[in-house]
Amino acid sequence: MHARIHDSDFYNMDCVDGAQEHVPNDSIDLIITDPPYGIDGANLDTHYNRNESFVVDGYVEIPLEVYGSFSLDWIKEAERILRPGGQIYIISGYTNLYHILHALRQTCLYEVNHLIWKYNFGVYTKRKYVSSHYHILYYAKPGGDRVFNLHCRYGQQERSADDRSLNYSDREDVWVINREYKPGRAKNKNELPKELLTKMMQYSSNEGDLVCDLFMGGFSTARTAIGLGRRFVGFEVSDSIFAHGIQSMNEVRPGEIIGSLRRPRTEAPANEGQRWTEEEVARLLTEYQSLRGKGLLKKEAVHELGRQFGRGRFSIERIIREKG
Ligand SMILES: C[S@@+](CC[C@H](N)C(=O)[O-])C[C@H]1O[C@@H](n2cnc3c(N)ncnc32)[C@H](O)[C@@H]1O
Repeated sequence: MHARIHDSDFYNMDCVDGAQEHVPNDSIDLIITDPPYGIDGANLDTHYNRNESFVVDGYVEIPLEVYGSFSLDWIKEAERILRPGGQIYIISGYTNLYHILHALRQTCLYEVNHLIWKYNFGVYTKRKYVSSHYHILYYAKPGGDRVFNLHCRYGQQERSADDRSLNYSDREDVWVINREYKPGRAKNKNELPKELLTKMMQYSSNEGDLVCDLFMGGFSTARTAIGLGRRFVGFEVSDSIFAHGIQSMNEVRPGEIIGSLRRPRTEAPANEGQRWTEEEVARLLTEYQSLRGKGLLKKEAVHELGRQFGRGRFSIERIIREKG
């Protein structure tokens, strides 16, 4: 079964066969995918403290014995369809992580980051630590321009109340993002939160780009991609999961998420790049001493001076170092 909605293609098929038939070489800008974990399905249910009757039936698991060859098959296909400079995020638990890493090493894809996604509801344990993270393997295909939108969420100058760079914190490689709790609503096992998908797509793609998910499950990647004005192509082998997910695609409006995104403040300080006059330098040093005299830490004083003088932090610190 194939459906074309919002300039996007959805296939109810095995992803390796489907990609071979329908996705040309070097055509995809970004893959975000969450393969089955190779954990026995019945076992998986008992990990989660929730009412399984709301989980859509039909989830196709991969037997452990073939997880290695299964991973190699689809990752080789991902390598083929990515354009040079195209990127892939693979979400994986730790149980079969080594199979995914082993397969990646048999491709030309290179590691950009190994991210940890820390989430809220983990496995309940009494005699060991509680598992509350997934791995996200962020790789790229060599040879072309790799999109990384440095200021898509926070401007370089934006700081938190405790004076940390918001841009830097947002790009640290441990992401704390809660899972969505949808009581009483049908969902796919392990449905990924929109916040997580949005972050990956904002940094690693642009409007109009083609995003692919080889294992669609609850179609969360598709919803987010279309909501962010991207085009999409995806695969889901299970008939019942596909039938459930495809219904939701008509309710999505292309670009509907864009208006609700936080707008980064990217403007440069008002006087950045202008020559410092001697009078301004003298005033800066006097004001600096006065702020320190009032008990402000150095970084707090620099922050305040940046606001007063319309200058960037680095140029203020240089003057204090050289002339103070
Ligand atoms: C972990 S889930 C994906 C969850 C999804 N990211 C979401 O947010 O809802 C993996 C999905 O892959 C599907 N699947 C398993 N083998 C597949 C294959 N060979 N081709 C395509 N889909 C497959 C499963 O039925 C399941 O729905």
